Amino acid sequence: MKRILVTGASGQVGSAVIAALRAIDGLVVRAGVRDVTTETAKWSGDPRVQPVGFDFLDPASQDAALADCDSLFLLRPPQLTSDVGDVIARARQHGVKHIVFLSVQGVERNWFVPHHHIERRLVSSGVPYTMLRPAYFMQNFTSTLHDELVRRHRIFLPAGNAQFTLVDVGDIARVAARVLTQSGTQHHGQAYTVTSGTPLNFAQMAAQLTTGLGTPITYVSPSPWRFYRTLRRDGREPGLILVMLLLHMLPRVTGTPPVTHTVADLTGRAPIEFAQFVAAHRAELLVAPTR
Ligand SMILES: NC(=O)c1ccc[n+]([C@@H]2O[C@H](COP(=O)([O-])OP(=O)(O)OC[C@H]3O[C@@H](n4cnc5c(N)ncnc54)[C@H](OP(=O)(O)O)[C@@H]3O)[C@@H](O)[C@H]2O)c1
Repeated sequence: MKRILVTGASGQVGSAVIAALRAIDGLVVRAGVRDVTTETAKWSGDPRVQPVGFDFLDPASQDAALADCDSLFLLRPPQLTSDVGDVIARARQHGVKHIVFLSVQGVERNWFVPHHHIERRLVSSGVPYTMLRPAYFMQNFTSTLHDELVRRHRIFLPAGNAQFTLVDVGDIARVAARVLTQSGTQHHGQAYTVTSGTPLNFAQMAAQLTTGLGTPITYVSPSPWRFYRTLRRDGREPGLILVMLLLHMLPRVTGTPPVTHTVADLTGRAPIEFAQFVAAHRAELLVAPTR
């Protein structure tokens, strides 16, 4: 049985990767979580998923989770301020044979993104690796952008008319599952940019949300200062606001990131487009999360 450790297993991508791996026979999936007690219930009754304690800030938990593992799905939690490089070194010590790293589209040109440095450490580690470089998550609308959508029925981002290349987290997970489980070494040393087929600007996304949700959604592109003030008033952390500013303003100058065929090539099905995402998540998009 092949053993795969998935980090960030309680998060958006990690939980989707576990769901995709559960559909494949002959695996033991270790779900790396910080809080085993509360997360275990999600997978109870499925003997193929073993929740294990895993904390990027606790080396002992990493050793226990990595012991006897064949492959590692590694991500960098947005909340983490430290590097994940020690985990790569530990994986090597434990004889992990393949690390699949969740990176960011365009990372190879952007040295200021932490993932750029993690990729470099991974390349020099000597452990066979595959980089997954996803585009802008459609699921940002059910996470970081959800509050504005539900409370004010708007998208409020300083992105102007810039077009964003998008991807559904489910497609990232299916690509990851394929790369983690396909026999052979064809994915070793590869970097795959993972996108849907149609870049959109936020006015177009607002129009598709309006149609799909049956309620008017507007797009407001504020000045950086107004964006900062508004999000601070809403209680968002300064660090997160600055990352959001950078992420949404940069494509105004760098242009639209390219579209790729990775999803179709590796999963055999067309990528999910934004209108399909809206239809599939309609209920979740309309309802305020419980705090
Ligand atoms: N959003 C985008 O558009 C986009 C696009 C491209 C790439 N990305 C990349 O995708 C990654 C984010 O993935 P995501 O959306 O799945 O994140 P997420 O939903 O915020 O999940 C983060 C996960 O990391 C875990 N975590 C946090 N701190 C930890 C620690 N100290 N030790 C162990 N686990 C810890 C969290 O566990 P708890 O439940 O315990 O907190 C959670 O499971 C980032 O690297 C981001 O740069 C994002």
